[in-house]
Amino acid sequence: MNKMKNQLLKINYLFVAVFFFVACGGNKTQCLTSPDGNTVVSFTLSNGNALYSVRKDGKEFIKDSRLGFLFSNGDSLCAAFNIIRTTSASFDEIWEQPWGEEITVRNHYNEIKIELQETAGEKRLLNIIFRAFDDGIGFRYEFPEQENLKTFEIAGELTEFALPEDYQAWSIPAYKGEYYESLYKKSPISELDTVCSPLTIETTDGGYIAIHEANLTDYAAMNLYPENGSTVLKTDLTPWSTGIKVYAQTPFVSPWRTIILANDLNELVNSRIMLNLNEPCKIEDTSWIHPAKYTGIWWAIHQEKYTWSQGPKHGATTKNVKEYIDFAATHHLQGVLAEGWNQGWDGDWVSNGFDFSFTKPYPDFDTEELSRYASSKGIALIGHHETGGSTLNYEDQMEEAFAYCNKWGINSVKTGYVNRFLDKKERHSSQYGVRHYRKVIETAAKYHIMIDNHEPVMPTGLQRTYPNLMSQEGVRGQEYDAWSRDGGNPPEHTTIVPFTRGLAGPMDFTFGTFNFDNPVYPQTRVQTTIAKQLALYVVIYSPLQMVSDLPENYVNNPAFEFIEVVPVDWEKTIIQEGIIGDYVVTARKDKHSDDWFLGAITDENARNLKINFSFLDESKTYKAKIFRDASDSNWKTNPYPVVIEEIEADAHTILDLYLATGGGAAIWIKNID
Ligand code: NOJ
Repeated sequence: MNKMKNQLLKINYLFVAVFFFVACGGNKTQCLTSPDGNTVVSFTLSNGNALYSVRKDGKEFIKDSRLGFLFSNGDSLCAAFNIIRTTSASFDEIWEQPWGEEITVRNHYNEIKIELQETAGEKRLLNIIFRAFDDGIGFRYEFPEQENLKTFEIAGELTEFALPEDYQAWSIPAYKGEYYESLYKKSPISELDTVCSPLTIETTDGGYIAIHEANLTDYAAMNLYPENGSTVLKTDLTPWSTGIKVYAQTPFVSPWRTIILANDLNELVNSRIMLNLNEPCKIEDTSWIHPAKYTGIWWAIHQEKYTWSQGPKHGATTKNVKEYIDFAATHHLQGVLAEGWNQGWDGDWVSNGFDFSFTKPYPDFDTEELSRYASSKGIALIGHHETGGSTLNYEDQMEEAFAYCNKWGINSVKTGYVNRFLDKKERHSSQYGVRHYRKVIETAAKYHIMIDNHEPVMPTGLQRTYPNLMSQEGVRGQEYDAWSRDGGNPPEHTTIVPFTRGLAGPMDFTFGTFNFDNPVYPQTRVQTTIAKQLALYVVIYSPLQMVSDLPENYVNNPAFEFIEVVPVDWEKTIIQEGIIGDYVVTARKDKHSDDWFLGAITDENARNLKINFSFLDESKTYKAKIFRDASDSNWKTNPYPVVIEEIEADAHTILDLYLATGGGAAIWIKNID
């Protein structure tokens, strides 16, 4: 049994103020420093108002910023506080991920818990817990059980992030787009709309600040907006249809607010603050959880060759699914997704989500036979639970639905919530949505089902606690290249998302296009070369990666070898170089061999790169198989040529690489010792 290993190196709790927690700058200011002493959070009471600020390496990153809450009855919990007690702690552990961008994660921080009480009136209590890490901070609010605060309604969270300068930030709007499926835009903080987190901010000296949240379990998602055109970002919580943001009862905790402070893109992507601020794994036996590459009846539906609904073009038939299973088995993939297998797709399924059945297949989809056939070929069927946003209908059937999957060897399910609202009135990122998504993950875990969630609330690292939450959408993925009237995702999009949405967790982006014709919307297309499609398997992380094109488009194309061999589970990840919005070079080491894989992608500009292989083990020799653009490749008129060549490589190799416009390169660096 492969039990989740939680190797504790050292745990050191201290309940008195020690060196990392000192009074500073006046007797009401406390400073908490990170284990390396470089990140410093200061907390102060100014006329009873709680304020915090953050510095790193002597530089101010967050100026004095407010903390606290507004309640629904015009009441607030934000001022006239006194500190009644502070306790501090230090923690250091190394824990192991069942899957991920790296195997082991160090969780090393100093903590201070500040217990506040109102000085007058109801004398209510509010605790604020800060954790200082070497690469940033996290903090959360705790509402202790108390006589004068039992049930309460949060009308607003007053948390601020006051930036010292009008830095540039990469953002998508919170309410003007749907399901986080917008193109990212770079603009000064002071000009931001109300935007989603993670918000990635570029500082003027080449560093990064990323603001997000962790462990969003029973609360509304956090959005941010600048106060009156200033550089003070304020918190906006996605409301319920009632206008209330959060319904709560003491004892209660908020999610963690997280601030990564990174010197470069490699530090930004490799920060594990979000995962560390989630609870340890609750699934004791994780042996049924497997990263996988999968194909499926999907792109052909988006290209209108097939339909989800019944009729002459119905896609999820026993015959078609068997062909996909054969393809998956021949090409070393592990799963086959079948969308449109179940009753409920005929008619307006977005409006009639309550008609979906998750246990009744269409007559031309033989679950029993497909289960037998898939298992005889060593392939797992991937279920599809599109709800049309009708969570009530889904929750009514959820236990039976996952039991059905378990019975037929369907070990993962792609869930979906296509609708502007859940149950016709609540937002996906509201507390209502958050509660539903959590219920799905927990129920699926009971039946040993992995989840790939589309139209989610923005991820916040819950996969540490429930590693059956494999991947999520919440990004403008490759489906837009099938039907979006704006022409599809521009080439720069994939150079941005690893450093914005990608900070929130794995993305089910679904690349793999080898045929760039668009039979339905000829003006819309995948705006890359084939070599860039290959590179995306390394650059965009997910433990579930789709091989999305139609099987016939891969046949006899030697470039497909890269997709066959590229892993989906990694020991280590390095961002070699990059500029958000321009280009990225990512190297990852396979978890199960000594091989490395490198992906380089560019935007609409061709470029020449010098790739330094210094990440390789000095004592080992390698053969690098390079899949790159030809000199005449370009995404618009000539996306197909891929030059495949092999070179000897070691830690001293420096490779000249040409990336075409909208192009890329993928390299399999095979250890040959
Ligand atoms: C939107 C999802 O993103 C897409 O992948 C899926 O095919 C459709 N919904 C139908 O569920």
